[in-house]
Amino acid sequence: MTTQVRLPDAEATRAWGRALAGVLKPGDLLVLTGDLGAGKTTLTQGLGEGLGVRGQVASPTFVIAREHPPLPRPDGTRGPALVHVDAYRLGSLDEIEALDLDSALDESVTVVEWGGGWVEGLSEDRLELDLQRPHGGVGADVEDAAAGERVLTVRAVGERWSGVALPDGVAGAPQDEEDA
Ligand SMILES: Nc1ncnc2c1ncn2[C@@H]1O[C@H](COP(=O)(O)OP(=O)(O)OP(=O)(O)O)[C@@H](O)[C@H]1O
Ligand SMILES: [Mg+2]
Repeated sequence: MTTQVRLPDAEATRAWGRALAGVLKPGDLLVLTGDLGAGKTTLTQGLGEGLGVRGQVASPTFVIAREHPPLPRPDGTRGPALVHVDAYRLGSLDEIEALDLDSALDESVTVVEWGGGWVEGLSEDRLELDLQRPHGGVGADVEDAAAGERVLTVRAVGERWSGVALPDGVAGAPQDEEDA
């Protein structure tokens, strides 16, 4: 299942991440692709807010993976941790496990930036999230590069996602038909 959603600004991207967090479960894997500055980290910040995890989600470029532990909810329960990975420096998910994070990946929501091309083969169930600038190809104004609309393409792969309603504007939205 592949669907698309327009994200007019950075807050829209964060809000979509917050909404997606509501359907996530321990063990989920999200693979984020898109050019430099496409909004992968911005979306992950929304996930962190929605999951209610500790710490500021930032670009993980200088660390391989950062774990954000869950904060207790008002009722005392905790959701999954968020493991935020920069796949630029990694060869496999086994290497993430080898980092010996406090929570195992099957207890966490794992988000891999730049995971396209290798993470896919390692998990049967995953959400592939690709962010693109609709007007920002090569030669686009540098100032424009940080601003403006993104198009998010969501590909839900595996049994895990069958019947799962993704946030508004994605699953079942009219724009689904456009790119079919
Ligand atoms: N619709 C939008 N969605 C997301 N970010 C946007 C949007 N419009 C503008 N921005 C801005 O674009 C930048 C996106 O940066 P971000 O670090 O999230 O990208 P990234 O894909 O993680 O980059 P990198 O490849 O360097 O990790 C931010 O400055 C953000 O405010
Ligand atoms: Mg980033």
